[in-house]
Amino acid sequence: WEMHAPYIAAINDLKKHMDAVILAHNYMTPEIFACVGDFRGDSLALAMEAAKTEASVIVQAGVHFMAETSKVLSPEKTVLIPDMKAGCSLASSITGDDVRLLKQKYPGTPVVTYVNTTADVKAETDICCTSSNAVQIVEHICAEWGTDQVILIPDQYLAKNVAAMTKIKVITWAGSCEVHERFTPEDIREMRAGNPGVIVLAHPECPPEVLAEADFAGSTSGMSNYVKEKQPNNVVLITECSMSDNVALENPDVNFVRPCNLCPHMKRITLPGILRALQTMEHKVEVDPVIAAKARKAVQAMIDVKL
Ligand code: 13P
Ligand code: SF4
Repeated sequence: WEMHAPYIAAINDLKKHMDAVILAHNYMTPEIFACVGDFRGDSLALAMEAAKTEASVIVQAGVHFMAETSKVLSPEKTVLIPDMKAGCSLASSITGDDVRLLKQKYPGTPVVTYVNTTADVKAETDICCTSSNAVQIVEHICAEWGTDQVILIPDQYLAKNVAAMTKIKVITWAGSCEVHERFTPEDIREMRAGNPGVIVLAHPECPPEVLAEADFAGSTSGMSNYVKEKQPNNVVLITECSMSDNVALENPDVNFVRPCNLCPHMKRITLPGILRALQTMEHKVEVDPVIAAKARKAVQAMIDVKL
């Protein structure tokens, strides 16, 4: 923590002068999440914050698709990302052209796109979803369109997990999260054997066989809220490594079993990088205004659904 202190002080000072807010995803390391983040949460919470913030500069402590979503929702604001290479295996698995082809193949079928996508892909979409609202969004759009079939892209595992919770037929894409796809049912069985009574919480980007072994499935904030409310003695979060560190800070009486996988994209965001972003106003995230207007409709449609 000693080496972090000067950066934390400098960032917190500078952001006041620059009328900036830092939106910190749950996968940020604790010194970012707890010490410089103004708003913390899952993809949905951060998108909603980006839509309503009055600050003139948004620094996205998260990956590129999140910064793009902020720019799409707040086009008049300056949106900065500390590292342009902070990508996502899901976002890079599909293009706008791919979605256009899918729409030709399945005419009359609504397209629901996970927020982990580029603005180009969102622009071809009827409505977005996140891991915390996917089932409700799929059911909402199918009721609105009077259909029992949906295209839910690009995460094949999220799509399969949603399909298991609804009667709607789900067409998907071969995308996956490089962090969550690595967990296996054997991992969970071994954890239970080594830690009797442990409560297992898993992210819906994990394969269905993994979720079948878990006690609860939810978005990053869903998992965090579960721990806050239920205060289990012993818990394991089947997700990115920093989640347990951050949730542990707020729940000192809970023990965390900590096997996890690192997201190399999220880990590109560092305190020195955030400070540099504020000092240099780099890197600005820009979205073509025509694409942004179309993508905004899809993200706003999601935000407008009352869950
Ligand atoms: P949520 O924060 O929406 O659960 O998404 C997790 C994720 O993998 C973001 O990259
Ligand atoms: Fe993408 Fe997975 Fe990393 Fe999230 S954890 S940014 S979904 S690769």
